[in-house]
Amino acid sequence: MITSFTDKVAVVTGGASGIGYAMAERFLTEGAKVVIADIEQAALDAALRTLGARGEVIGVRTDVSDTASLQNLADRTVEAFGKVNVVCNNAGVETGGTFLNVPEQAWRWVMDVNFFGVLNGCRIFLPLLQQQEEAHIVNTASVAAFNSGSATMMPYCASKFAVLGMTESLEIELRGAGSHVGVSLLAPGPVRTRMPEAERNRPRTVPAATEPARVAVMEALARASAEIGLDPAHVAGLVVDAIRHNQFFVLTHPEMATAGVHKRLRWMETGEAPPVRVPGT
Ligand SMILES: NC(=O)c1ccc[n+]([C@@H]2O[C@H](COP(=O)([O-])OP(=O)(O)OC[C@H]3O[C@@H](n4cnc5c(N)ncnc54)[C@H](O)[C@@H]3O)[C@@H](O)[C@H]2O)c1
Repeated sequence: MITSFTDKVAVVTGGASGIGYAMAERFLTEGAKVVIADIEQAALDAALRTLGARGEVIGVRTDVSDTASLQNLADRTVEAFGKVNVVCNNAGVETGGTFLNVPEQAWRWVMDVNFFGVLNGCRIFLPLLQQQEEAHIVNTASVAAFNSGSATMMPYCASKFAVLGMTESLEIELRGAGSHVGVSLLAPGPVRTRMPEAERNRPRTVPAATEPARVAVMEALARASAEIGLDPAHVAGLVVDAIRHNQFFVLTHPEMATAGVHKRLRWMETGEAPPVRVPGT
């Protein structure tokens, strides 16, 4: 269990923006050395300029959907700092539409970044974490991991369900084996970040999601994010506390997460289907 972050080494994917940036900033404030990994070179450069004043930080351009790129991230981390204590598999993207309007390439992009990026981050970094006495993995899911049925967000929802299933199973396996590597699942509700503009990182093979139902949902999401979204720094504080206490679930909006689980439980136990949610509400 990590009791102090002083001189620990933390890797954060998607660390150039939003929640990842806030986690990187907080780890630096706590005395850790930080590696920021992100696919956006310009954002990475800007983050390093700001965070460089806070402590020892490097940036490694990384595409988490590419296993070789993640391996390079691990190699560069060990080269720079000699070890890894904390890995936050946090990079995430979103695109969607009504079911028949979502092409396979869009599904693959979202699954490759949100699920395989997290999975391969665990596969590549776990052996390095096992070499350290104090080590922890934080995988970012979403309240979407507990709530199906958000209009036009099916690939995102499926990817976050997959992160939940994999991360819970990993925690159970490691704890059962007596491993000292802790595992947490961060499942945020609305946080004020650039997530509503996630398509900015869409590969050329993925068409823009332009159907009106989808655009309306994204506009509503952007409004909600700006109006009621939490400050990412608050989320970073919850993550640091969870690592310190080896706490599995990190829920920024526990009522949204548990409502999803209760809804499913009622559905399973009584057969009563949950109400249909109207897009944009
Ligand atoms: N903001 C929210 O309301 C919210 C809610 C639930 C879950 N989340 C999750 O939080 C995580 C962080 O997102 P955020 O809200 O800070 O959004 P953000 O867009 O501000 O940050 C995401 C970062 O990931 C990077 N990224 C995208 N694709 C990448 C790739 N292939 N390889 C490496 N980096 C890549 C982006 O460049 C960006 O810097 C995501 O997993 C997201 O699904 C966010």
